[in-house]
Amino acid sequence: MTHKILCIVGARPNFMKIAPLMAAMEGNGHLVARLVHTGQHYDAAMNDQFFSDLGIPAPHINLEVGSGSHAVQTAEIMRRFEPVLDEEQPAAVLVVGDVNSTIACALVAAKKGVPVVHVEAGLRSFDRTMPEEINRVLTDQISHLLFTTERLARNNLLREGIADEAIHFAGNVMIDTLHHHLPRAVPASELFSRVGAPADLTGQPGSYAGLTLHRPSNVDSESTLRPLLEALRDISRDIPLVFPLHPRTRGRIEQFGLMPLLESTRILILPPLGYLEMLGLTRNARFFMTDSGGLQEETTALGVPCLTLRDNTEREITIDEGTNTLVGTDAHRLRSEVQLILSSGGKAGRIPEYWDGHAAKRIVQSLGDWLDRRAFH
Ligand code: UD1
Repeated sequence: MTHKILCIVGARPNFMKIAPLMAAMEGNGHLVARLVHTGQHYDAAMNDQFFSDLGIPAPHINLEVGSGSHAVQTAEIMRRFEPVLDEEQPAAVLVVGDVNSTIACALVAAKKGVPVVHVEAGLRSFDRTMPEEINRVLTDQISHLLFTTERLARNNLLREGIADEAIHFAGNVMIDTLHHHLPRAVPASELFSRVGAPADLTGQPGSYAGLTLHRPSNVDSESTLRPLLEALRDISRDIPLVFPLHPRTRGRIEQFGLMPLLESTRILILPPLGYLEMLGLTRNARFFMTDSGGLQEETTALGVPCLTLRDNTEREITIDEGTNTLVGTDAHRLRSEVQLILSSGGKAGRIPEYWDGHAAKRIVQSLGDWLDRRAFH
């Protein structure tokens, strides 16, 4: 018996999660995957490059919603997804992560009685000012089958009243993608010479630090962003920084007139990078500073120290077992954590359980079995 699964992607971090799931469904023959792209991310650098780097098939359906306020974006995805669901009649809708596309499509499916499968369930920052936390809690509440990346996520779900038998610990599909593509990662030296980087930046492993920022809480107000960029400029005197800029962050830096703070031969500003370039940049960095969820996991998997520029994280395991340290946005703390890494090497960490490159296979197997059992009842 075959089952049709509508797989949803919308934003950049979804692409790395859906790629191994689509491949595993293809290999399984039992599940037929159809890819729906909401169009939340649409720039070539945020979107097309990832599809080609990751070998994801072109979406069967593109809802082309684009940017908007949270309400507008979420509502527009829902409005455009409903007729697709009616037309496709899938056995289940599979959503990944915690972006607006995740909750929007989950909500439409749940109300139509179509089972919702959530991959990367149960992560909690316990910070409801983060839009992603709202998306996580609500998506988990309306999901029928929940796949977690770490054992402790089950406790978060049980506390919120989710049935134990709906929860499956499968591991981290993002790390499946990392394992699969690591041999093809673009060396930092190649990237730096392509973009004509200053002489200080050779791309030698360990000779620079990586940096990304895009959380609204860090970049949307000048009173947070300015001191953070000042601290980063100071840090660049000790180690050169490489900073691929998310479009939101570039917009804010320009709006607040902060670009001059970053004008230095020891800070390399880049456009958003493709997956293989980013992987090479991360792998060879001495350490990374970030507010991204994905990079906290990828640095742990690569054994690269990570300083997370947030007050909390939903990815506790990267702190407890991995290479991650929460530093918040206090400039003083950030400088001292950087000094610690430069003098002593930073956290080494270990690889969390089931971050082994086989998570997607486990998920597809369980999903197929679950759908078979449902079909026979
Ligand atoms: C979204 C996710 C966030 C994820 C991030 C990765 C939500 C609530 N947030 O945040 O969890 O970590 O993606 O990037 O879903 N823009 C472009 N081109 C694009 C996409 C965005 O220029 O292709 C600009 C637009 O000005 C847009 C802004 O970036 O308004 C924010 O985009 P949006 O998709 O709303 O959220 P992200 O900040 O990217």
